[in-house]
Amino acid sequence: MSALIESLQAKRVVPLVQSDDPKTALKISEALLEGGLDVLEVVLRTDAALDCLEAIAKEFPHAHVGAGTVISADQSREVIRRGATFIVSPGLDPASVKVAQDAGLPILPGISTATELTQAWNLGLRTVKLFPASLVGGPKMLKALSSVFRDVQFMPTGGVSAANLNEYLAVPAVLACGGSWLTPKAAIDAGDFAAITKLAKDAIAIANS
Ligand code: 3PG
Repeated sequence: MSALIESLQAKRVVPLVQSDDPKTALKISEALLEGGLDVLEVVLRTDAALDCLEAIAKEFPHAHVGAGTVISADQSREVIRRGATFIVSPGLDPASVKVAQDAGLPILPGISTATELTQAWNLGLRTVKLFPASLVGGPKMLKALSSVFRDVQFMPTGGVSAANLNEYLAVPAVLACGGSWLTPKAAIDAGDFAAITKLAKDAIAIANS
């Protein structure tokens, strides 16, 4: 079992880190780590995202620092170069999967149908992201897919929050949930990193309940 899967199993929550500035990204990450979460997904959604990823990976070598919103093979190569230890994608891109597999890095592509999951399974993947989870059927969809794909584990993302986290985690095939609810923009803009630590602690409490 990979160290990443072990951490996902232990913490069961993957916060998104998004920032325009590596210094702020480091503060967000520190707050999440302080709250007990050690699997962080730095999303490629700002011009500074790659610099944020690199800074976090360097500063916190004991955390699992992955890159999210990766949609091409070129981006996959670049995030690996910048220090990502896993890759998450909103959809399934076989070329990105190959880059990650060749580098020996875990990749969790997004799937939202049985057909996409079949394609992911045939690429050798047994851990995928369900995206956007709440819009494609939520926990019911996960139960339906996992009754067929018995050896697949899921990371639902998209519409997961503290209010429904326990419903997702109650599905046996759910390894962990991802989401942006742990890193709200309002708290970041206000410099309220203690709020992020609290959200991380609250999520762990829900996961353990
Ligand atoms: C993702 O990249 O996985 C989603 O944007 C997360 O969705 P959320 O913002 O609803 O948590």
